[in-house]
Amino acid sequence: MQHFISVHDVTDIDALVQEGLRHKQSPFAFEHLGKHKTIGLLFFNQSLRTRLSTQRAAQNLGMNTMALNVGQDSWGLELEEGVVMDGNNAEHVKEAAAVMGKYCDILAVRAFAGLQDREKDYAETVMTQFKKYAGVPIVNLESATRHPLQSLADCITIEEYKTTARPKVVLTWAPHFKALPQAVANSFCEWMNRRDVEFVVTHPEGYELSPDYVGNAKVIYNQDEAFAGADFIYAKNWSSYQNYGQVLTRDASWMITKQKMELTNNGKFMHCLPVRRNMKVTDEVLDSEQSIVIEQAGNRVWSAQAVLKRILEGLG
Ligand code: CP
Repeated sequence: MQHFISVHDVTDIDALVQEGLRHKQSPFAFEHLGKHKTIGLLFFNQSLRTRLSTQRAAQNLGMNTMALNVGQDSWGLELEEGVVMDGNNAEHVKEAAAVMGKYCDILAVRAFAGLQDREKDYAETVMTQFKKYAGVPIVNLESATRHPLQSLADCITIEEYKTTARPKVVLTWAPHFKALPQAVANSFCEWMNRRDVEFVVTHPEGYELSPDYVGNAKVIYNQDEAFAGADFIYAKNWSSYQNYGQVLTRDASWMITKQKMELTNNGKFMHCLPVRRNMKVTDEVLDSEQSIVIEQAGNRVWSAQAVLKRILEGLG
């Protein structure tokens, strides 16, 4: 594997899921692989799980880690080509990425969608520029449109908890008061569409995701109908793709409750975290046996470790 920007960089998801599960069993089996190798973790946005799980994964593989909050610890970065740099950003990504590529063997980058300009966000400028100028492999720690390390952890978690060969997996929109990116939902769709699952997406009218990501998923606008017989409920809020970045409703009837979970096949509750309690999901559900959000977050280490191992093997 050269880069890990999206599911398109993975040739065999099942093999990668199994690789993650093997690392979970034997975390230090490949600690020789990253000796004298360094990963740089660049954050344009906040993080808890991604930052710590990726560092832990790299350290399990014997790597050195360096983390940088871009624009806070470092100069603000200009991403546009050919501009007069008379604004707040003191350094161009062209130099910054190339320089960081001299210090690091792998660069991992988190840069959320701005939610102002759909064309710009979906062009994935930050990932594209780092890939173009860093000269080392790039790992996506959540970009404007995708969160593939999260999706791989989600696949690992479903593999661990499924009780039937082909489980029903439901991605449901859940209410939130502020506009959030579509990245986690987009990515989850991309990965689920490549897994052996019955995949359903449910959301209010106006929250349709880009058809490029929804693919063959069945879209049901009635949440109760979608939940019927589900083995996994994956809750996430996202802002509108059509009315880009807007919050169209905060309809509390879409919050995940015990009554809704009772419609499922004793289904497991999943969320990428962080989650706002009693806004997207009730305490009762999150604190129940059906919730596997902590185990899901724990699997972020094994997801990152599987990916970093594949990239390290390519470095030679
Ligand atoms: N799920 C996830 O990416 O969490 P953080 O934003 O805390 O990294």
